[in-house]
Order: sequence, then C-alpha cells, then structure tokens
Amino acid sequence: MGIILDYVINATAQYMEHMPKKQRKAYGQFFTSRETAQFMAGLFDVPADKSEIAILDPGAGSGILSAALVEQLQSVQVLQKIHLTCYETDEKVIPLLRSNLEWICLKSVTPVEYKIISENYILSQVLEYNHMIGAIPSPDKFDMVIGNPPYMKVSKDAPEAKSMPDICYGAPNLYFLFAGMSLFNTKEYGELVYIIPRSWTSGAYFKSFRQKFLCEGTLEHIHLFGSRDKVFDRESVLQETMIIKMKKTHDKPKTIAITTTQSNVDFSNIITFEAPYNIVVSGEDSYVFLVTNEREVRTLELLNNWKHTLPGIGLKMKTGLTVDFRNREALRNEQEAQAVPLFYSQHIQNGKVLFPIGKENEYIVTEQSGLLQENVNYLFVKRFTAKEEHRRLQCGVYLANKHPEYQKISTQNKINFIGGSRELSECIVYGLYVLFNSTLYDCYYRILNGSTQVNSTEINTMPVPPLATIEAMGKELIRCHDTSETTCDNIVRSFIYAEDRGSEDNPERIASAS
Ligand SMILES: C[S@@+](CC[C@H](N)C(=O)[O-])C[C@H]1O[C@@H](n2cnc3c(N)ncnc32)[C@H](O)[C@@H]1O
Repeated sequence: MGIILDYVINATAQYMEHMPKKQRKAYGQFFTSRETAQFMAGLFDVPADKSEIAILDPGAGSGILSAALVEQLQSVQVLQKIHLTCYETDEKVIPLLRSNLEWICLKSVTPVEYKIISENYILSQVLEYNHMIGAIPSPDKFDMVIGNPPYMKVSKDAPEAKSMPDICYGAPNLYFLFAGMSLFNTKEYGELVYIIPRSWTSGAYFKSFRQKFLCEGTLEHIHLFGSRDKVFDRESVLQETMIIKMKKTHDKPKTIAITTTQSNVDFSNIITFEAPYNIVVSGEDSYVFLVTNEREVRTLELLNNWKHTLPGIGLKMKTGLTVDFRNREALRNEQEAQAVPLFYSQHIQNGKVLFPIGKENEYIVTEQSGLLQENVNYLFVKRFTAKEEHRRLQCGVYLANKHPEYQKISTQNKINFIGGSRELSECIVYGLYVLFNSTLYDCYYRILNGSTQVNSTEINTMPVPPLATIEAMGKELIRCHDTSETTCDNIVRSFIYAEDRGSEDNPERIASAS
C-alpha cells in the first residue's frame, strides 16, 4: 500500500476516535474503507494521452477517495498535473481534509493542485444544473468523479428536494441527487465511480432519476457486496450498497462487468460476470437488474418474452387495506355480529389461506369502506419475509367460496393481494399461484429488488403471460393436485417453452373462466 492513502486512512481513524458517530451522522458522514477506496480508484480507465486531469470528490470527508485516486495515478508517466476539487460542508472535518490534501500534494510524484469548496454541493449548483438565468455559462467539468455521497433523507420542503426537479420529487435521499449532480459535472467521455445504496436500481420513485442517469451516462461496471453489513466495517452501516462506474456517453456497450465480493476486505476473491447490457438495463422503467450469473440472465430472458403486465390483463396487485394498530378499536379476537375476517400474513400457510387460526385480532368490525373489500377470489402474497428465508415471494390462494357467510373481508397492510377488475375465476387464481410460487418468478423478483419487501408497484411492472396462459396453468395445477414449488416450476417451464399463439387477452375471460 502506498504512503499517500496510508496516511489519510490513519489520520481519519484518529479523527473518528474523537468525533462521535452521532455528530457525523447529522451530515450523513461515513468513511470509505481503504480496500473499497483502492478498488474504486482502480476502476477508472486512465487516459494514456492526457497531461492534465481534473478530479472531483463531492462530499469528500477526510479525502480518502481523493487520496486513493491520486495514488492510483502515480504511475501514469505522461501526467503532468492533477487538479483536485473537493466539496465538503462539515466544518469539523474540513481542517482534516485540508491537512490530508496538503500531504497528498507533498507526496504525490505528479504535481497536485487542490481546491476545497465548503458550499453545499447541490444548492451551490442549482442555477447551472437547471440552466437558469445567472448561471455560470461554462461551469467546470471533470475527467474523473469519485464519490461516496451522504446517505441521508431530507424532507420534501428541504431546499435540496426542490433543486433538481427533473429527477426528484417528494422527500429525497441526498445520495441520488449527488449522483445526478456528479454526472452533470462530468466531461463528455469522462468517468464517474460512486459507492451508493442499491435502492435506485428499481422502484417507481427513482424512475426519472434512472431514465436521465442511464440516458446521459452508460453503466460500465457494477460491484456488489455479498453481505450487506460489511461495507463500512467500522461504521456498521446497514445499507445494501453497490459500486458503480459510469462513462458519460450515450453509446451503450454490449456487455457490462458485474463483480461480487463477500465484503469490503476481500477484493482479491472477486467473482466477475460479463452480463448483456440490454438485460441489465431494460424495460420502460429503466430498471437495473443485478444479475450475477448465467442462470439469472436466462431467467430474465425467459420472462421478458412475456410482454404483458398484471394491469395490462385486467389484474392488479394492491397492498392490504387495514393498518391494524391504527384501527385497534375495530379489531376483535372472536367472531361477532358485523365482524368480518381480517387476513394477516400468518393466515398464508403452504400455498393456502387458512381462517380462522385463533390469531389475536383476526376479525374487524368497521363501516369504513376503505378498510373493506369484496369477498371474492384473490391471491394473497406476503409483503415481508426474513432475509434468510428460502423465498421472497410467498403466496396463498384465497377462495371466497370457503367463507360464503361474508360479503366483505379485510386484509392487513403487511400482505399484498392480487384481484381483478372483475372477479377472478379459481383457475386464474391458481394460475397466478403457479407463477408466484415458481422459482423463476422468485428469482426475477430478487434480481429486480434486493430488499426483503414485496413492493406491489414493482410486481405490477413484472412481465406476465397472457391471461389464457395463466388460466391454463391454473387448470394444470388443479389437475396435478400438487401445489409444490417443483410442480409450479414444471408448469411454468412447459408453458414458457410452448409458444403462446392465438390466445388474445380478453378481460371477459376473467369472469367466465372457471
Ligand atoms: C458518506 S460521507 C463520505 C466521505 C468520504 N467521501 C469518504 O468516502 O470517506 C459523505 C460526506 O459528504 C458531506 N456532505 C453532506 N452533505 C453535503 C453537501 N450538501 N455538500 C457537500 N458535502 C456534503 C458529509 O459531511 C460527509 O463528509
């Protein structure tokens, strides 16, 4: 290891001993580990012909990432000068940043010139970013941007939340505003390496960000960590993080490198997978599918052949209607006049929905229409599962004819349910069960969303076969009398490989098929 990074890491460790985590948290301040910083710096393609390079480190903290990158550039013979710009707003860390940058200048073989900007990285560039009157006509642009931005949610009324309206609405997390601003600060064909949470890769909230980010830039490398609590080892940050390398270009490559290590200290045991770019970044929503092997690519290829979504065929996944703890007075342990079943995830057992099970508060008495739904057939899907559980998608078939005494039922908001614009036939509910209980579908969802929560908006964007196929899958399951995962897999496979021809979707079928 080199003398430059070594010094900065040690100086940061001393700083951390005296600066309580609570104070640093107010700025979203977590320091990158030595190994991660070196790995990130190593991802840049160093231009062979440039004699000067401009580097940006937004939210620089103590300058660990700058140090790693300057160190990486030491061996580049043609390089005559490095211009380094660091943004940092925390007054307490700025003296450390300055002394570290002085050390870097002193020890670097290539002359380094640095600038610390203590203004807010987002707010100070609002005019330029939004091309507003008063903006600097040609703001500084950088060849290399290296960043570990603050991971911090701000309120929807915070000035940052209103600064980048083309990619942000509501209450944003600063990290993606930093990423968006950094791409803006990158020169054409310049490169950006960032360590950020994984949440931006899917979900409706990040759609505008993804669309702009992935249109103006091209993902060239993604690095994933096998275990999520290992990235900031001293800091115990429980965030699923990833490292991305982007090039500022519209040209899209054929493949993208996706690497994985178990933690941030074993970059020598790296697993590399070259994934097709159009599989990783795909769909109208510009999701980023984090595939790590051929099997996962195959899953995406197979399911992406289906061009429908649940809403497109007249079905929809919704989140359960009742927040139980906000409606305590309406909850009952026992059946009584006017009480209707309130279904929780505990009622979903081995592919079925069992009721009653003697669970506390499994009935509700209410006249609030928002808490009640028709007693018709549904597929219930748990919203939360534990990380170590075998499946993310866990579902159960709910058949209304098992509870004919009720006109209405309710669902707790910790489950999701799929219903139709018209009542679903039994065959269709069983067909949905085949899909949602298959390994393929579970695998697809995991690639789409790294978290343990099943998000109905995302499920509603997943590809599904035509309704006639779903119905036929259901019939097949009923015929087999076996609701196991293996049977569901076999059924899905047999239908995927057979071509779906001539089965035009007709919402009427929802009502008529049975
Ligand atoms: C996650 S830390 C990373 C520090 C350093 N880059 C590293 O990797 O060790 C993010 C840094 O951004 C700084 N920061 C937070 N909000 C900022 C803002 N609006 N403008 C500039 N810096 C900011 C914090 O003080 C903190 O030092």
